[in-house]
Amino acid sequence: MGFFNKLFGNKKETDNMSNVKLAVIYYSSTGTNYQLAKWAEESGKAEGAEVKVLKVTELAPDAAIASNPAWQAHVDATKDVPEATSDDLEWADAVIFSIPTRFGNLPSQVKQFLDLQGGLWANGKTVNKVVSGMTSAQNPHGGQEATLLALYTSMFHWGAIVATPGYSDPVLFGAGGNPYGTSVTVGQDGEMVEDVEGAVKHQAKRTIEVATMVKNGSK
Ligand SMILES: Cc1cc2nc3c(=O)[nH]c(=O)nc-3n(C[C@H](O)[C@H](O)[C@H](O)COP(=O)(O)O)c2cc1C
Repeated sequence: MGFFNKLFGNKKETDNMSNVKLAVIYYSSTGTNYQLAKWAEESGKAEGAEVKVLKVTELAPDAAIASNPAWQAHVDATKDVPEATSDDLEWADAVIFSIPTRFGNLPSQVKQFLDLQGGLWANGKTVNKVVSGMTSAQNPHGGQEATLLALYTSMFHWGAIVATPGYSDPVLFGAGGNPYGTSVTVGQDGEMVEDVEGAVKHQAKRTIEVATMVKNGSK
């Protein structure tokens, strides 16, 4: 058996996927992470999951948004996307976060959203959520892993089950091979550098597979 067969072979297809509820929660200033979230939604629906795409509440002042035409255009284009709430988290079996790096860390908007979940956490409602993260940065080594680790640190406190892609599918190698979660570089022109659509879709599929095992039992 070849290396790739050894690594990826003998996969058991998971059935009964349709009862997983997936919340794809994103923050995006200029559209990249919104696009990643939409690909995750597409994949989740193809797997039969019930999927909600939700944005994190914007905290930046209007003047800051208006000073960047790409940011303003994205805010206007996504004004009808619902904002994520604690009820959405409680509803979800699985959560995929898609968030840009900010100085190698979480955007404050995302940190605020996590910090508003104290009530949910205190009632044990964050336990066993299956969580996975995706990110973007302007530079190929601009803090992608650090951002995902920052997210996952909070998830450990939630008692969430963090389902990273690892190297679970060959498609990940073409997307930069980030085992912490799909990450993409965004050029000065605002366009994605790597082709990560397949990696995002695989990550969503894998998150749903793990959530199915957790929800329905692995037997
Ligand atoms: C305040 C701020 C801090 C940033 N910090 C980093 C960074 O540490 N490394 C990096 O490569 N890019 C950094 N960026 C670039 C963003 O990560 C990039 O614009 C983002 O990934 C694009 O995603 P979006 O289109 O979904 O908003 C930063 C951008 C801003 C506004």
